[in-house]
This record gives sequence, C-alpha cells and structure tokens, in this order.
Amino acid sequence: MSEYLCYDPTVEIRTEDEEALTTEILDIMETSNRKAFERHRHAVRDAHAKSHGFLKGELVIPKLPEHLRQGMFARPATYPVVIRLSSAPGDIHSDTIPAPRGMAIKVIGVDGERLLSGDTGGNQDFLLVNIPVLSFGTIHKYRQLVGLLEKNAQNPAFLQRAMAGVARGVEHAAEAVGIEPGATLKGLARDNAHLLGETYHSMAAIRFGDYIAKISVSPLSENVRALTGQDVGDVEDGTMRDLVVEHFLKQGAEYEVRAQLCRNTEDMPVEDAAVLWREELSPQQPIGTIRIPPQDAYSPARRVYGDDVLSFNPWHGIREHQPLGSIMRIRVAAYERSTQRRHELNAQPRIEPTSIDQIPD
Ligand code: HEM
Repeated sequence: MSEYLCYDPTVEIRTEDEEALTTEILDIMETSNRKAFERHRHAVRDAHAKSHGFLKGELVIPKLPEHLRQGMFARPATYPVVIRLSSAPGDIHSDTIPAPRGMAIKVIGVDGERLLSGDTGGNQDFLLVNIPVLSFGTIHKYRQLVGLLEKNAQNPAFLQRAMAGVARGVEHAAEAVGIEPGATLKGLARDNAHLLGETYHSMAAIRFGDYIAKISVSPLSENVRALTGQDVGDVEDGTMRDLVVEHFLKQGAEYEVRAQLCRNTEDMPVEDAAVLWREELSPQQPIGTIRIPPQDAYSPARRVYGDDVLSFNPWHGIREHQPLGSIMRIRVAAYERSTQRRHELNAQPRIEPTSIDQIPD
C-alpha cells in the first residue's frame, strides 16, 4: 500500500448551499469590479489586478522517482512557461499597502484530457500565492471575507489592516477582519519582502495523478535565494515592478517546483485550505526546475499582452491535475466571469497561447 492517499472523487465533499454562495460571492466581486472599471475606465482582474512583471522561461522536468511520475510530470520534458507576478487585491493599489503576492505560471503545450470543455488551449496553469494557506479556506469563510471587503471598500485603513493581516498569516488576518481564526500561524509571509525571494504556494490541493498534492515554487539559484526575507526598505507606488525589472535586466533566476503529497485528509484536509499541511507529515518534494533568462520583464507590449490578453486559471489544465475542494470549485465560475468581462470591456481577444513566441519581448 502506498504511503500517500490515493486520489478518489470522494475526497471532495460538496455542501448544499455551495451554488447559492457561489452566486452571492461572484455578484459581490462583480459589483466591486465595476466600480474599479469606472475609476480606471479600464477593466482589471477581479483579483490580482496589479502586475509587477512578466517572465518567459522554461520548466524542466527530470526523471522523477516513481511515485512522483504523475500527470504532466510522468516523463522527463522541457516546456516553455510564461509567468505573471502580481499583488492580490482586485484593484490597483500603491505598493505602500502590504499585500499577498501572486505568481501565475502558464506551462505551454501540455497533453492530456482537458478539465473544461470550453478550454481549447493545451496549457497547464498553476496559480500560487506567497502564503501556504488561504485564511478563508472554505466557501463559507470566503463569503464572509468578500462581504467584509465590500462593506469596507471605501475604507482605506480597513483595507490596509486586512491586507497586512492576510499577508502576515491566518491569525492576524482573522483578527483584522473579525473572523474566528481557522488555524494558528504567524510570520509566514512578510509585508514588503522582495517578490523574487518568496516561496509561492497553491494554498489548496490539486489532483496529482494517482495522488493529491499542494504545489509550491521556491527560489533555487543563489541570486534569488539571497533575496529571501530581504525587506525592500522604502516603498513607493511602483517599487515591486522596478525591483523585478532591475533584476532581470542583467540576471536570470531558477526556481524549484515542488509537490507536497497528501497522506490523509484528517491532518491534510482537501476541503479547508486554511489548514497548513505540515512538512513534518509530508515534505516538499522537487518535481521540476523553472529557468528564467535575463529579459525585459515589463516592456509596454508585454504588459498589455500579459494584463489584458492573457488569462491564468487553475482550471486551465488536464484532468490529472484537477483542482480540489470548495475553494477550488468556486474558482471555475469566478475566473471565467472575471476574464470574460475584462476582455469584453477592454475589447481584447481571448487568446490561449500555443507558442511562447506569441508573448511579446
Ligand atoms: C487557493 C487559493 C487561491 C490562489 C492561490 C489564487 C491565486 C490567484 C492568482 C495568482 C491570480 C492572478 C492570475 C494572473 O496573474 O492572471 C488570481 C486571479 C484571480 N483570482 Fe484567485 N486565487 C485563489 C483563490 C481564489 C478564489 C477563492 C477566488 C474567487 C472566488 C479567486 C478569484 C480570482 C479571480 C476572479 C482572478 C482574476 C481572473 C482573471 O480576470 O483573469 N481566487 N488568483
């Protein structure tokens, strides 16, 4: 018998009110998004609106130990990737306001049965944030969060407190917005650390072929490891982008892709993404290396393509990597709605790249 829990559809447990809650959450998000559109007269993402850099590189998958040969990691391969770095809020705030950071990775040209019937692309996206857990890790808790954010949308002090709380970990986030803590974690993410030194996590689980895993991406080359935990000092509106651009003007970077396999859903739940999967129970196991050469990470053409044309979506992918749990199920509709609206309002084509050459330099 395997030491890891085998994937089975019964690991997911739906609640009766899920559909109704999804509608409520999406409606609230859409209302805030429309307000953001009015302010900018340009449509931004419902979440992770502000980008800090776009990177082209490759993902190298070596010959892995047998238990890790799953899904797109089954065989050694090299794929082109495009990465978008961002901050979590669904509006463009100054970098002086602390926020969780995102790393969205699109792996181009992955074979396999697609998760969504309308997904004509052949890509596998991984959406990661620099915190290992999602404080509001069930659909019910997420509903509370979006309600509070909506009520306080015009209260910068609240938003600042809430974002700082989320960025620092579950306890503070819960305190900041007045919800009972779902887990106890402190200091797992810093407010203004250098984006390129951070470790990024899927927060919630995905199917990993025969198994279930959370995915993370961590600095590997010396130059980005040296940035881990480095406070960037005085921050201005565009500091995070400037740091990314400055780094890639002269240097490249390497990151390690890792899978943390689930052993049992009591200690490592699939339905509540607020619970940390402890590394003593199951370590992060390397499954690939992302190599990024020096480049212009924020050229005007790349920014427009990356922000307005590209869509990253955890459901862009193959059945062997199906996102799992209520927070993942709600994302099917959330990403489609956000992408559809922003493409329509900005009059941009929805293109799923089939070659890395489609991403402008
Ligand atoms: C497991 C936890 C989650 C992670 C790790 C995550 C991560 C991300 C990241 C990295 C992005 C930026 C993608 C890009 O650069 O284009 C993003 C965008 C987005 N997220 Fe999430 N997210 C999570 C949960 C959620 C939930 C629960 C919702 C809504 C119910 C949501 C709604 C969105 C939306 C609407 C976008 C923008 C989509 C678009 O217009 O292209 N996310 N997310």
